[in-house]
Amino acid sequence: MSGANASPARSASAIARSLRKRRSHKLMMNPKLIKSFVLGAMAAYGLAALVLLFAAKLGVLPVQADVVPSKLEARLLGSALHAAVARRASGGTNPIPATEENLMAGAKVYREMCSRCHGGSKEAENTYGRSFYPPAPQLPRTRTSYSDSEMFWIVKHGIRNTAMPAWGNLLSDEDIWQVVTLVENFDSLPNSVSAELLHHHR
Ligand code: HEC
Repeated sequence: MSGANASPARSASAIARSLRKRRSHKLMMNPKLIKSFVLGAMAAYGLAALVLLFAAKLGVLPVQADVVPSKLEARLLGSALHAAVARRASGGTNPIPATEENLMAGAKVYREMCSRCHGGSKEAENTYGRSFYPPAPQLPRTRTSYSDSEMFWIVKHGIRNTAMPAWGNLLSDEDIWQVVTLVENFDSLPNSVSAELLHHHR
């Protein structure tokens, strides 16, 4: 880049370079160091991705549901799922009020279609739901960190590669909002609705 003639452009670029240097010193960051760090990290991730692909082809990755996966796998897939659901959900609020009538309708759906996996009450021990990987969260006990509209989206569309079915083929949007309303109010249900939930579980 060193031209023979000392042009004004060259001295301008020299000034710019020294300015950049000064600024980077101020920030205690050396561009060369950053560049090699980024390149090194990219190479490491590339290698990790290749090893993963190779392991997948060889069939050595664990696929069984009764072995607890690594923290990394659980964290990575968990956060990917939350981000995907958040992106697709409408973001709106539940259009259905938590009246006894709606809670009762939600309880009927929940008892018939959800409780066998997600548990019918705080007390019920549900080995079936816990035997999946990922396990079905015991909703009366654990509740959920998903918002109204995210829960609606999950129930309607299901979660791929898990035991969570897409209920959109079986339930109307109103049914789904009613069951979402029920799940949101598990801690403060009227007695009649709690009784409805336990109906067939005695
Ligand atoms: C055959 C078992 C099964 C049935 C039946 C089922 N689910 Fe699920 N559900 C699951 C599993 C397994 C997961 C966990 C998926 C995951 O973590 O990736 C899940 C996840 C969910 C979640 C996300 C909860 C969270 O905090 O992670 C909600 C909400 C949910 N189900 C609601 C329902 C509702 C409502 C019904 C009934 C209409 C239902 N499910 C029926 C298996 C089931």
